[in-house]
Amino acid sequence: MGVIQKIGVFTSGGDAPGMNACLRAVVRKSVSVGLDVVGIRRGYQGMIEGDFVDMDSKSVSNIVQKGGTILKSARSKAFRTPEGRALAAGYLKQAGIQGLVAIGGDGTLAGASVFYDEYKIPLVGCPGTIDNDLFGTDETIGFDTAVNTAIQNIDKIRDTADAHDRLFLVEVMGRDAGFIALNCGIGGGAEMVLIPETLSDLDEVKHHIYTLMSSQHRSSIVVVAEGDETGGATQIANVLRADAAFENIDLRVCILGHTQRGGAPSARDRVLASRLGVAAVDALLAGHSNVMVGIVNNEIKLTPSRNVWSRKKSISYELLGLTQMLS
Ligand code: F6P
Repeated sequence: MGVIQKIGVFTSGGDAPGMNACLRAVVRKSVSVGLDVVGIRRGYQGMIEGDFVDMDSKSVSNIVQKGGTILKSARSKAFRTPEGRALAAGYLKQAGIQGLVAIGGDGTLAGASVFYDEYKIPLVGCPGTIDNDLFGTDETIGFDTAVNTAIQNIDKIRDTADAHDRLFLVEVMGRDAGFIALNCGIGGGAEMVLIPETLSDLDEVKHHIYTLMSSQHRSSIVVVAEGDETGGATQIANVLRADAAFENIDLRVCILGHTQRGGAPSARDRVLASRLGVAAVDALLAGHSNVMVGIVNNEIKLTPSRNVWSRKKSISYELLGLTQMLS
């Protein structure tokens, strides 16, 4: 592969606030060094369909503050097949695209590794997912905004919980990870946080909540990560409602769901996304391939894509200790 003159950029998987800021950085950095940039719509699905659009500095004006992704996103089933990937490689070749920047989460980077092994098109990933579950970066694009959104909602739930002396089970996103739950649990002053990284014994959960509600706390908030092995907030509520001891405890479930994926990115996410977008183009130009750019201890770091999704990023046990100590 000679000197790269034209690159493609796409957003893939679950959207995350800050993806647009990252896209803007990729496009503007590329333009500044004389690269041609093509936007690939709807992630890998658009690659398979040759859904490409030429981009320049103007095409990314006025998007740094916007949630979602102007290139749209998708979870492509067809890209998981060799036939789908062959179609994608064909369209990239036809368009003269010699390098790729992928903005997305674990599924995106897993797809990128397979594609690179097969077609050797240089590819650099940018970590974009609210879940923060990627090894190789302290924070992913969208995580900070999602935590802030969840905290704002928990504050509101706290008002109504207090007014009615109620117990609220608040479910936050995190399919396999408890980063959002842990952070918004601490910031929102939750009485208990349940995450997939730690096993929750339902009898102990019941006992803890019962003790809380019948002693100092007349209202309580329990934050549950959607991926918690208990089955989530609705499942826990069913277990509690079936127990006679909870007969007089007024409880409600609130699932924050996709509210956490939308909205304007926080300042922190915009800055992170801008740094990573520029770093991704730098990495491509420096000849790196099949890596993800991340920020570790405030420094740009490259990690092989395979490690990003095959290695488990650890939660902070210090934060976990805080949730227990401060509740
Ligand atoms: O992108 C991550 C995530 O928001 C997870 O937290 C959640 O489990 C999943 O995506 C939901 O995906 P979808 O919007 O495709 O249902």
